[in-house]
Amino acid sequence: MNSDWYKEKSFYQIWIRSFKDGNGDGIGDLYGVYEKLEYIKSLGVDGIWFSPIYPSPNADFGYDISDYKNIHPDYGDLDQFKKVLARAHELGLKVIMDLVVNHTSDEHPWFQESRKGKDNPYSDYYIWRDKPNNWDSLFEGKAWEYDKVRKQYYLHIFAKKQPDLNMDNPKVREEVKSILRFWLDMGVDGFREDVINFISKHEKLPNGLPFLPAVNGLPYYKDGPHIYEYMEEFREVCSQYDCFQLGEGPLTTVKSALKYLTGPKKSLDMMFSFDHMMADCIYTEYVHRPFSLVKLKKAFTKWQKALNGRAWNALYLENHDHPRVISRYGDEKYWRASGTMLAMSYLFQQGTPFVYQGQEIGMMNIRLKSISDYVDVSSLTNFNRYHLKDSIEKRLERIWHSSRDSSRTPMQWTGGRYAGFSKKEPWFYVNPNYENGVNVEAEEKDPYSILNFYRKCLKLRKSSNVLLWGSYREFFPNDPHVYVYERRLCDVSCLIICSFSDKPVRVKLPKEYAGRKRKLLLCNYPRGSHSSGRLDGLPEGEQGWFRPYEARIYRVQ
Ligand code: NOJ
Repeated sequence: MNSDWYKEKSFYQIWIRSFKDGNGDGIGDLYGVYEKLEYIKSLGVDGIWFSPIYPSPNADFGYDISDYKNIHPDYGDLDQFKKVLARAHELGLKVIMDLVVNHTSDEHPWFQESRKGKDNPYSDYYIWRDKPNNWDSLFEGKAWEYDKVRKQYYLHIFAKKQPDLNMDNPKVREEVKSILRFWLDMGVDGFREDVINFISKHEKLPNGLPFLPAVNGLPYYKDGPHIYEYMEEFREVCSQYDCFQLGEGPLTTVKSALKYLTGPKKSLDMMFSFDHMMADCIYTEYVHRPFSLVKLKKAFTKWQKALNGRAWNALYLENHDHPRVISRYGDEKYWRASGTMLAMSYLFQQGTPFVYQGQEIGMMNIRLKSISDYVDVSSLTNFNRYHLKDSIEKRLERIWHSSRDSSRTPMQWTGGRYAGFSKKEPWFYVNPNYENGVNVEAEEKDPYSILNFYRKCLKLRKSSNVLLWGSYREFFPNDPHVYVYERRLCDVSCLIICSFSDKPVRVKLPKEYAGRKRKLLLCNYPRGSHSSGRLDGLPEGEQGWFRPYEARIYRVQ
């Protein structure tokens, strides 16, 4: 049974280490999550996606798993997880887990056995070779590491401490199925499947293109030769439950995503794509360039159009892998306006929205003084590997802009000590702006806060058939300042207009909207605050001025 319940829902992503400390050790945990379930529910979301909460040495903060069927002691235990699950379900919240099976931790017992030798029962659980090929890893130099015990090289597409599993081994696939069953039997509602399009490698592991640093091996491990067979096997297990499967598809194209999402061999319900995360960079962190709204819109529209009527989009602007979006696509100087505008730019598209912890209060990037303050493996590699001719200051500035650590600072709950995240000094730096109103407590009290705006948007989406099911169309794709899109169902449309400019911009209605009756459903500036004293930002009828980062949604009949 794979039903479509996920289409009407929206999700909140928890990266637990920085969410809420409930037991006073400076680290977020399941006790903290339990305390905050009502808060999550109050946002108007319908489910939680937990980034990994399993035992892990934290070389990649949970994405290096050393035991798939347990909870990291820093976060609690299985009993506490069951309590959270039961309470979440009572509140009507679905719970999805992260399934990370492209690789394990090198401290996983399978790897510890595998490295012992070729006649070990776990010998073929990983990908071992006498001679490495030329692939780079995505996180730490070359993709092969020599193991002194086994006297061979093992493959790691990510960090050295994340050896890739050999999915061609049927025993490994049985292990994956057993992990799925373990959590599904406990009652979880689905999985977000980490880098799932990488799990099948080309058998011969040929050399990659030498001129593409970091991704030179990609053509030989992305959408690999047996991927769809393996995905079908996993789908088969999930279909015995009412399980929702969301794949993460780094660098996926529309064409290859549709292979997972459609047809009788459909193996995923949705896929996280990355195109819209490259409006200010290439491959998320490697090459930074100025933000381009035209690029962002092109990416949005490409996915909206291609999936319409065939598959379903997973909508997001932030997660634990991308820096804070106000600092990237918005403007910290226009914190409230750009934070709320960004919400409207994606929450009303067709698909299931995901909101990342702290996004709903407009958290922003942190700027730490020295590279030694950063802890994310890929940030450290980027600093030490790319643009080495630049000054330290310039390289650090790039880290401020791009580091994953910026989205991993502790959640800002109050204006008090440690932002109310913990009673003890937190495991990582808190962004000092919690003292300037960027915190849940302050925003709860403010009817026009970013927090309350997210609530309004999520409520509106859910209450509108047009916003849930309507088709998507973009207007003025080449306009460098304004994003205008329509959702339409039969004769009713919603028109969403978002200014991405820090200056007032002239906005005009699309031609076919001329003379039609429109009703303003939501605006990100408080009522009556328009300079003309009028509520409508299009006071002259078909055109008008939008204030910096102003966003509006109209219902038009
Ligand atoms: C994608 C995850 O979102 C990211 O955090 C992780 O580092 C890589 N996959 C490797 O697991």
